[in-house]
Amino acid sequence: MEVKRAKITAVGHYLPEYRMTNAELETMMDTNDEWIRTRTGIQERRILKDEDKATAFMGCEAAKEALQRADVSADEIDLIILATVTPDYFFPATACLVQNMLGAKKAFAFDLSAACSGFLYALSTGSMYIEAGRAKKVLIIGTDKMSSILDYTDRTTSILFGDGAGAVVLEESTDETGIIDQIHYTEGDVNCALYQHAGGSLNPATQETLDSRQHYLTQDGRAVFKKATMGMADVSLEIMEKNGLTPDDVAWLVPHQANLRIIEATAKRMGLSSEKVMINIQKYGNTTAGTIPLCLYDWQDRLNYGDNLILSAFGGGFTWGSIYLKWGIK
Ligand code: UT7
Repeated sequence: MEVKRAKITAVGHYLPEYRMTNAELETMMDTNDEWIRTRTGIQERRILKDEDKATAFMGCEAAKEALQRADVSADEIDLIILATVTPDYFFPATACLVQNMLGAKKAFAFDLSAACSGFLYALSTGSMYIEAGRAKKVLIIGTDKMSSILDYTDRTTSILFGDGAGAVVLEESTDETGIIDQIHYTEGDVNCALYQHAGGSLNPATQETLDSRQHYLTQDGRAVFKKATMGMADVSLEIMEKNGLTPDDVAWLVPHQANLRIIEATAKRMGLSSEKVMINIQKYGNTTAGTIPLCLYDWQDRLNYGDNLILSAFGGGFTWGSIYLKWGIK
């Protein structure tokens, strides 16, 4: 049987207008611009201020732009996979809300929860449907309203994240471009290094969980930093070696944007110079499932048909992985 290949045919994005600068954070907590910039690379992040809008809205806006750029109408979409850790509701899935907002009548839709690796897990999953011939047009969305789970009294976590969304359309490739390989890993975070402790079925919302601020994201930064640096660098090198790619063969590293130091360590391990690395963490911070499609969006005009891209991420779970693709938009 002939194996099909999936390729990205368009990218869309959504970023809230409001820019929260490091200077603004200085007025809210004991932190400073110099610490944030040197330890993370972040200068500002976007925050969705509208109280009646959330993750589905951002994902839908990104999806609309991607569909328009692909010249695909919503009712042609077979499948929507939406990666997020900040769903509008526990259920229904945020993907179902987006399906309705878009009017994607024949699409089935589901959420995928893999934190900062969510977009990569979703891209792999969506590409399989096309490779198997079970879907022709798939929407992959990474969207997170991180500000909804940030504790702005905790300077160690709240400075890191921002809100935003990216989306891609996947269609069948007719040549050598498209998604070629993926490697994914999971390792249960038994020490609760990166968690949102309450709100689930184990610790439903009570006055006590609210009073002890358990509905916010918590992180042991140092522990996660160590694992993330090793995980992202190792898997990026592994996918290069598995596919016989030298540093010269790789046009771009598209890394999850959690910390500039993690990105630099990954590029160094791959033998890539800094000109081949997409970095926009200074503008958006860590938008969780949004970081990788937001990089693709920002860089799309600089990408050449056939360029080898390595997409890499590490996140809560723990989850991590890499995707190797040949860029297929002319
Ligand atoms: O995307 C999901 C995966 N997440 C990640 O990959 C994040 C991984 N972790 C990190 O990026 C880094 O660990 C952080 C940026 C979170 C922290 O950087 P660090 O270099 O690991 O700092 P640290 O936690 O070791 O803290 C160093 C010092 C501490 O003070 P003492 O104990 O040395 O006196 C902190 O209290 O910096 C202090 N500190 C701050 N100071 C000013 C922590 N947060 C801040 C802050 N402003 N916002």
